[in-house]
Amino acid sequence: MKHYEVEILDAKTREKLCFLDKVEPQATIAEIKSLFTKTQGKSLKDEDVLQKLPVGTTATLYFRDLGAQISWVTVFLTEYAGPLFIYLLFYFRVPFIYGHKYDFTSSRHTVVHLACTCHSLHYVKRLLETLFVHRFSHGTMPLRNIFKNCTYYWGFAAWMAYYINHPLYTPPTYGAQQVKLALAIFVICQLGNFSIHMALRDLRPAGSKTRKIPYPTKNPFTWLFLLVSCPNYTYEVGSWIGFAIMTQCLPVALFSLVGFTQMTIWAKGKHRSYLKEFRDYPPLRMPIIPFLL
Ligand SMILES: NC(=O)c1ccc[n+]([C@@H]2O[C@H](COP(=O)([O-])OP(=O)(O)OC[C@H]3O[C@@H](n4cnc5c(N)ncnc54)[C@H](OP(=O)(O)O)[C@@H]3O)[C@@H](O)[C@H]2O)c1
Repeated sequence: MKHYEVEILDAKTREKLCFLDKVEPQATIAEIKSLFTKTQGKSLKDEDVLQKLPVGTTATLYFRDLGAQISWVTVFLTEYAGPLFIYLLFYFRVPFIYGHKYDFTSSRHTVVHLACTCHSLHYVKRLLETLFVHRFSHGTMPLRNIFKNCTYYWGFAAWMAYYINHPLYTPPTYGAQQVKLALAIFVICQLGNFSIHMALRDLRPAGSKTRKIPYPTKNPFTWLFLLVSCPNYTYEVGSWIGFAIMTQCLPVALFSLVGFTQMTIWAKGKHRSYLKEFRDYPPLRMPIIPFLL
């Protein structure tokens, strides 16, 4: 059977990246992609030691330009300060949003003020955690990601805030009872999320990049580690479900759903890495939802 020779070039520079000989005529593009990935070798970590790499005394390393980079702290601060600020523009009903007669007026519904407090405190918490709690292992991320992430966070914040602070907004169907239940869910999940972030921080000595298996501590909120690998995501989704019940607002429900989908993808990836990295990883754990997902 005649085999094909496939040359892979960089789309921008036309530089030859690799040459695959003896490719089966029936090979799919997915198979060719996988052959290409194999020829690229493994990517190296900062801590890899030259002596331990599968190279002789002459090592050839390849450099890949990932484009302009930006620090993680800057990324998080930009992503989180945006929603905080944008939400408040709608809350204070600044001109050109709801019509002239509503400029700087205030809603008569208590739930609107409560929602603003919850939303603001949530993002203030995230900003403070980014500055003082998280110990990130990777310094930077590609600049283009920030545009994608900001569109997501800022866009949803504006969409949610527009409806919740709208002069024609109607409070939830079951009134104060629904709001109180939702507030309880929100507060519990925020405390849970913070507790997990503290527990993760304590796993890693300052300045290091160590990864360990997280275990429950004396703080009951961390006991969710018995059942899931990423309880901070579980609590984060819970907070937004609480916020959606409180405001009974469709864009909030959609934001919760999109966030849940994204965090499930990440949680599955982190769960897989834990299983790969630690042989004694607790078998009962699921990625994000106990016993289910
Ligand atoms: N609403 C949304 O759509 C949304 C989406 C994503 C995140 N969030 C919020 O943002 C928070 C942070 O997100 P994230 O994705 O950065 O969370 P994460 O991956 O769980 O990491 C949180 C911090 O803990 C460190 N860490 C994680 N596992 C560790 C381990 N086994 N040993 C030592 N350190 C470990 C991480 O370091 P590394 O730098 O090494 O990872 C990072 O500094 C989430 O918990 C959630 O509250 C919200």
